[in-house]
Parts: sequence; structure tokens; C-alpha cells
Amino acid sequence: MSDNKPLIWTERLLKSLQAGKDSPESRFMQVATCNKDGLPENRTLVFRQLDTDEGIIYTVSDLRTAKADALKANANAAICWYFTGSREQYRLNCTTTIITADNAPEDIHRAWSEMSVQGKKQFLWGVPGSVRQPAKPLKAEGDMNTPPPHFCKLAFRADSVDYLNLKGNPQYREFQTRCDSDWQIRAVIP
Ligand SMILES: Cc1cc2nc3c(=O)[nH]c(=O)nc-3n(C[C@H](O)[C@H](O)[C@H](O)COP(=O)(O)O)c2cc1C
Repeated sequence: MSDNKPLIWTERLLKSLQAGKDSPESRFMQVATCNKDGLPENRTLVFRQLDTDEGIIYTVSDLRTAKADALKANANAAICWYFTGSREQYRLNCTTTIITADNAPEDIHRAWSEMSVQGKKQFLWGVPGSVRQPAKPLKAEGDMNTPPPHFCKLAFRADSVDYLNLKGNPQYREFQTRCDSDWQIRAVIP
């Protein structure tokens, strides 16, 4: 089976995304960070983009959320991503960069312009996690054409990848570790 031959993880991931392109949930990744007390926090993020040359996964997020605070203090993140159709799991250990309008204005404007209206609204109806007034319906307030200052991108640069493919008997598992500009790939016992 072609899945069971060593292959750089970015190429694998493109194949998994292609195979799952008709199911929106194939773009949902679980991303864990450590908060300032060293405790793990995990949440779902939508995959937006993959830089295959650099081994970086991009998402969009909000600077006012707990994950942004956590990542400012500790850039380590762990991604766990399961593709139900192809039965593949990717676990990535990453170093994260927060991209904002201050450090990359063009990048942020482009990312904002690519958001759907519904997606944009989520950034315009108040501070995430703040108390909601029960009688007051949420209203998206602000200019839809300009990214709000809290709109950001998260760049997860993989340092190592643990790939598991449940298809086949035995299953196939592979460790990949960044080595300068290349990846060291080792098939391991699942
Ligand atoms: C399917 C799904 C997709 C989500 N995608 C994103 C996303 O792309 N970016 C984001 O900031 N939050 C996203 N969220 C919300 C986060 O999971 C989380 O609830 C929110 O960002 C607050 O997280 P934090 O308090 O850990 O920072 C998504 C939630 C779900 C259920």
C-alpha cells in the first residue's frame, strides 16, 4: 500500500486533505497549548493553509483569547488531527508564531479578505469569554472590510510529526523529525 512507504509529512497531509475535501470536519484540528500555570488547554481550530516548503500550518484566531496569551508566554503547541475517511492521525509538535497586523499587515489583510461574512462576524461581537448579557442579542459591530486589531494568524511550525495510519494490518506508524531543511523519517512499530 502506497501509504505505507516513507513520505514527507507535508505531502501526506496534502493527500489526506484532498481525500477529505468533501467533509468539512477534515479541516478541524485539535491544538493544545500550555497556560501560564503549565496546565494543558486544548481546542479545535480550522486549518487554513499549509506551507509545504517550511512545514508550517496556518490558522486564524483572536488575540483576545486564552490561547494567544498562552502562546505569547510559551510558543510550544501540540496538534492532533484525525482524518476519519482515510483513518490517518497526525500528531505534530510545533513552535508557534503569532502573526498580527503590526508585524505582517498585508498578510493579515489578505487573511481577513478570505474570511466569509459569517467568519468575520465572530470577530466583531465582543470579547471572547466575557460575560454575555442575557437580554441583549449579539450584534457584530465594526467594519467588515478592515481586519479588527485582534484578528491574527497562528503559524504552527512543525518540529516533529508522529503519523499513524489505521488502514491495513499491521497499521503503519512513522516518526518524522526536522533536520535542518530536511526531514528524518523513521517507520516504527505502531
Ligand atoms: C469546529 C470548530 C472550529 C473552530 N475554529 C476556530 C478557529 O479557526 N480559530 C479560533 O480561534 N477558534 C476556533 N474555534 C473555537 C475554539 O475551539 C475555541 O473555543 C476558542 O478559540 C477559544 O479558545 P481558547 O479560550 O482556548 O483560546 C473553533 C471551534 C470549533 C468547534
